[in-house]
Amino acid sequence: MANVIVIGAQWGDEGKGKITDLLSKSADVVVRYQGGVNAGHTVVVDGQTLKLHLIPSGILYPQTECIIGSGTVIDPELLIAELDQLAALEISSQNLLISETAHITMPYHRLIDQAAEERRGEHKIGTTGRGIGPTYADKSERTGIRVLDLMDPEGLSKKLRWTVGYKNVILEKLYNLPPLDPEEVIDQYLVYAERLRPHVVDCSLKIYDAIQRRRNILFEGAQGTLLDLDHGTYPYVTSSNPVAGGACVGAGVGPTMIDRVIGVAKAYTTRVGEGPFPTELGDVIGESLCDRGAEFGTTTGRRRRCGWFDAVIGRYAVRINGLDCLAITKLDVLDQLPEIKVCVAYEMDGKHYQDFPSNARHFARCRPVYKTLPGWQQPTDHCRSLKDLPPQALEYLKFLAELMEVPIAIVSLGASRDQTIIVEDPIHGPKRALLYANSAPLGSRV
Ligand code: IMP
Ligand code: MG
Repeated sequence: MANVIVIGAQWGDEGKGKITDLLSKSADVVVRYQGGVNAGHTVVVDGQTLKLHLIPSGILYPQTECIIGSGTVIDPELLIAELDQLAALEISSQNLLISETAHITMPYHRLIDQAAEERRGEHKIGTTGRGIGPTYADKSERTGIRVLDLMDPEGLSKKLRWTVGYKNVILEKLYNLPPLDPEEVIDQYLVYAERLRPHVVDCSLKIYDAIQRRRNILFEGAQGTLLDLDHGTYPYVTSSNPVAGGACVGAGVGPTMIDRVIGVAKAYTTRVGEGPFPTELGDVIGESLCDRGAEFGTTTGRRRRCGWFDAVIGRYAVRINGLDCLAITKLDVLDQLPEIKVCVAYEMDGKHYQDFPSNARHFARCRPVYKTLPGWQQPTDHCRSLKDLPPQALEYLKFLAELMEVPIAIVSLGASRDQTIIVEDPIHGPKRALLYANSAPLGSRV
């Protein structure tokens, strides 16, 4: 039995969808613990591409229970569209469970998200416009609508008449937008409620039961470490906690029940939305990474900003999440490059720093210090073991593992399930803390 958290070690879009899909095979339960329809997972199964936003990719395995946990925010309209998408592919969603205490994204959240972004002007965050920030803001402000409110038609109507009225003041007076009709919103959400009702349960209890029955549980993070509300590049972050610690809060489990934390990082770096990005490439190499890596957002279709691998961020992700091992994805995207750079430190005011600065103003001024490695200039997407890799690609991976002091357990070289090298068992391999105790040279483990 093992309870595992999978998180993004960069700014999201690291390829967690594929890695959780791989690991879901041996999981009995998969839990989404934060975020909402801002996330997007692309999974390719038997040549068919499936884009999921809220439903864990574990839904593709008929025996796996999939939980949308308490720490998530749910847009019922889009969740129902996902259920329809699965139904059209004859994939059962019978095993989908929704937490009673998750918060619901309402039409005013979406409107306010988009209007606030416009109002921010040059200070805009570049949100997905899906109402995520305002939904979490209402949660903190204690005016949120939860799944359990949705399940109580009378209570919901009463609550929404007041809340929509309150939000209309903001829409009209602050943003010059037309008001919403509370009765229309109520009718619409009551229809959604009945569609979702069969899936609604007490998720923390479900998870606890599963742990006691020694089931394997996979906690699936959305977005990434640098988008974390507390530990990311604030204010250019999302409004939830994608870091590993967020799994305990968002799923309702104690930290003592977690056995392992796996990080997912791309072999280079991408970011969508605004905010500093030290290794960003504004040149033809950046463009080629974007084209070869098909770096367009799953949710918004926006072109992702691309740059070299940043090991300062990598080390930070190892620390903040307590990573046991890493999965490196999209190595094949680097196949054509004659040389590859890795950011090994930051330079600010003539000094070098190896640790990620928690001061956002400092971060914005950091410049990358690069080490240049030779490229391999041959295809790797067919490689199925480390032995198949060109020596330069192996050196690149070793260099990353040494810099970040974390073993690389998985290497991904394409979107399909079989385009994967399992270096060591990511779930049952040695814990990183133990490797430290034995003072084994971590990089030599790749
Ligand atoms: P929000 O989550 O829509 O509020 O957006 C806040 C920031 O997080 C923006 O920079 C988004 O581009 C970014 N973001 C949110 N979700 C994702 C994701 O799943 N992948 C990558 N970036 C994301
Ligand atoms: Mg994504």
